[in-house]
Amino acid sequence: MLHSISSLLLLLPVIYYAFDQLFHTWLPTNYKFDKVVLQQLVQETLANNPGGNATAIMMELTPKLQEAYPGLVNDLTFDEWFYNNAGGAMGQMTILHASISEYLIFFGTAVGTEGHTGVHFADDYFTILTGEQRAAYPGSLEPEIYRPGDQHHLPKGHVKQYMMPGQSFALELAQGWIPAMLPFGLLDTLSSTLDFHTFYLTSYYTARDMIKNLLRGKF
Ligand SMILES: *[C@@H]1O[C@H](CO)[C@@H](O)[C@H](O)[C@H]1NC(C)=O
Repeated sequence: MLHSISSLLLLLPVIYYAFDQLFHTWLPTNYKFDKVVLQQLVQETLANNPGGNATAIMMELTPKLQEAYPGLVNDLTFDEWFYNNAGGAMGQMTILHASISEYLIFFGTAVGTEGHTGVHFADDYFTILTGEQRAAYPGSLEPEIYRPGDQHHLPKGHVKQYMMPGQSFALELAQGWIPAMLPFGLLDTLSSTLDFHTFYLTSYYTARDMIKNLLRGKF
């Protein structure tokens, strides 16, 4: 028993090294979404919606995303939104696409939130639709401020404190080892909120989309 635990501990850096190599080499060959295209589509949509109505923006943006990425983007429905508690922040989200190497979601908050970004094995591109996002590294005494149409890139492994005031929503693209992000997205539910319905919805919608895409050959 002790022997197998210590072998596993010795193996961990090797496993990490292998996944890190793949992150820089093979994994990106599976990426379909382009952060630049996403930001352009967001900016076009915002130009048509000067009032900043998040519902109207998402209803116009989703078909544009479906046209740019045929077969990869789910229809928008307001029945499949669920809470996300992670890093002390609370928001709500719906999944447009989830696969092993990418996810595309609408994420935000109607009431405002603040917390830790998490440490991710993925690059994260957060394009603001309404409201704003503020973020800062330790030692930065002035916040970075992202407004509608801006894209906040959080590189793999980087961490920041962030906040979003009420009625802030974004289109979020993550590219990397998505399954490695799930514990951050789920464990607050087990250790803090005990909201098992949200745990179920998060697991169900994520697994449903990942499996659907995997069966179609989208890793
Ligand atoms: C925002 O847009 C939606 C969809 O077009 C509409 O139903 C809703 O009334 C709008 N909200 C406001 C506050 O204008």
